[in-house]
Amino acid sequence: MVSLGRRAVCFAALVLSTLACSQDNERKDAATGGPDTAGSDGGAADLARDIVKAGEAIARAVTGDTFKVTGVLVGAGDIGRCTSTGHDETARLLDGIDGIVFTLGDNAYPDGAPSRFTDCYGRSWGRHRARTRPTVGNHDYRTPEAAGYFDYFGDAAGPRGKGYYSYELGGWHVLALNSVLRLNSWSPQMNWIRQDLAASRATCTVAYWHESRFSSGEHGTSSAMRAVWEVLYASGVDVVVTAHDHNYERFAPQDPAGTADPQRGIRAFVVGTGGAGLRPLGVVRANSEFRDASHFGVLKLELGSGAYRWSFVTTPDGEVADSGAGLCH
Ligand SMILES: [Fe+2]
Repeated sequence: MVSLGRRAVCFAALVLSTLACSQDNERKDAATGGPDTAGSDGGAADLARDIVKAGEAIARAVTGDTFKVTGVLVGAGDIGRCTSTGHDETARLLDGIDGIVFTLGDNAYPDGAPSRFTDCYGRSWGRHRARTRPTVGNHDYRTPEAAGYFDYFGDAAGPRGKGYYSYELGGWHVLALNSVLRLNSWSPQMNWIRQDLAASRATCTVAYWHESRFSSGEHGTSSAMRAVWEVLYASGVDVVVTAHDHNYERFAPQDPAGTADPQRGIRAFVVGTGGAGLRPLGVVRANSEFRDASHFGVLKLELGSGAYRWSFVTTPDGEVADSGAGLCH
């Protein structure tokens, strides 16, 4: 128990340190914001107080014996490629982590053909299929209507042809979306998302899909994903996990426009490190807090009552490259 307490204190210090970095960035922004210096400083001071309060609340929520893990999500995107051994390594990480496995699309390179699922994805992540709730990516759609994907995962992938669905895990509401289908304001999927979130009574919600709204990777930030962020943000969704770029990245809570928002913002992760291949980072985006383009790995999300913890677990031996915690709205 003593060591747990020490870890908790160190962890709380890390959280507060991370938040302090965000606070510094906001102050810099305020300082360069033009002649209205007094107003900017006041806003920065308010933001700083909010951040410190949030940090203290997180520390209380996730330290010591107060944080009870009610569910675990673990996974990545950009996974199976016959010529890569990266997904064999990330599958070995999954062997040692209980919970629901999520996939973030581009499951079977290069084209999502049935044989790519059975022979490539299947040889590694396939042994976890019974506990997997997948999402689909653009490469999976190189087979017409993503037939290889829907054939392989069956009912676990949601309605065939739609590929979006939701479920409950440890008191959390979980949305699995399809970013290859249209996600504009009045698309059928967006209407379903609104109805699904309106019907949810969960305090905490996480959503995952393939294409990232914000990313410092090769593909970068996507305006096509702004509309879905608007809907999720308005409904108080807490965490979004995506891939498409072949690296790991963590963003501070922000709004759909990319403005830091420690009170109502969505915490976002890019986890395109499932094993298909790694790619270098590009321009570092605002609110990016941590990036890793040199390791395959999986994101482990420990869900609790009103709070969550994250770990980026990397190959080959499970070293944790990034960790932290957050509170639900
Ligand atoms: Fe992709």
